[in-house]
Amino acid sequence: MDNTFFKGKLILAPMAGISNSAFREICRDFGADMSVGEMVSAKALWYGDKKSTQLLHTTEAEQPVIPQIFGSDPEIMASSAKKVLELTGAPAIDINMGCPVHKVISGGDGSALMKNPDLIFDIVKAVTGAVDVPVTVKIRAGFEKINAVECALSAESAGAAAITVHGRTRTQMYAPPVNLDIIAQVKEAVGIPVIGNGDVKDGKSAKEMLEKTGCDSIMVGRAALGNPFVFEEIKAYLSGQPYEKPSLSLIMDTARRHVHALVSLKGERIGILEARGQLAWYIRDIRGGAALRAQATKVSTLNEADEFINSIHNK
Ligand SMILES: Cc1cc2nc3c(=O)[nH]c(=O)nc-3n(C[C@H](O)[C@H](O)[C@H](O)COP(=O)(O)O)c2cc1C
Repeated sequence: MDNTFFKGKLILAPMAGISNSAFREICRDFGADMSVGEMVSAKALWYGDKKSTQLLHTTEAEQPVIPQIFGSDPEIMASSAKKVLELTGAPAIDINMGCPVHKVISGGDGSALMKNPDLIFDIVKAVTGAVDVPVTVKIRAGFEKINAVECALSAESAGAAAITVHGRTRTQMYAPPVNLDIIAQVKEAVGIPVIGNGDVKDGKSAKEMLEKTGCDSIMVGRAALGNPFVFEEIKAYLSGQPYEKPSLSLIMDTARRHVHALVSLKGERIGILEARGQLAWYIRDIRGGAALRAQATKVSTLNEADEFINSIHNK
């Protein structure tokens, strides 16, 4: 793979419980150039956990998809990375070093790795030694203190091919502001491509991310929830093209496609449970949204979801 693979790209962020195959395919159709899959536990994969393996499901239409693993034992990470690539044939693999949730960091995984740049080196070294595709890492600004540059250099010297920086510390979780300076400092320090992440929600904020950090690619997460159109909007803005907001009809057709894809992927019971939240996001900006969102949280079959979507279509 050449060095341009991680440059000039608009990437759907990994979001556990959200950026599954169903959503990734839709985002790809609306302009995302690639995506990173939901985090999967290296340890669980190592033990052969079926649910974790299912999280790796991808389709042809959504390629390229980069699977992401989390963990902190270099050997287990290396062996799981190999397994992931055997199962998916993915063009690269990403290592989660940014997850802030307690359950993950209490095991020393996710963003807790940023407390130990030497361990970052060992993990990346072990994984790059085990697989023959590019290995990327996704970090935050730091855990408590800001040390993204040190962690990025550590990952780079161990062979990482690109690095995503979410410009917030673990302590900040998702609280504003996002620190674009630290992304710029990482870009200045390393020679590998840097992917800027955090609060990119439209064309203007994407341009700001590019200009203020000099990053090579942009990753978008929460702004795509119920709004996969955001990728087209950003691309239009960055290339100076006019952009027309999606019609209600397109929004609801996309919501229907998403719900049906979730049901195909997960079966009706789980698919519909997950679809409730997605539906609420699609209708967040329409008039009477609050009452409709309450209704969305009650749909319990695919038929009910279709009827709910039809009722908005016909408004
Ligand atoms: C619900 C949710 C789940 C997430 N899951 C993951 C994950 O599995 N792996 C990961 O590296 N980051 C995960 N993130 C972090 C996002 O990838 C991204 O770094 C963060 O949301 C900031 O980007 P944004 O402002 O564009 O949303 C998650 C974020 C959210 C909101």
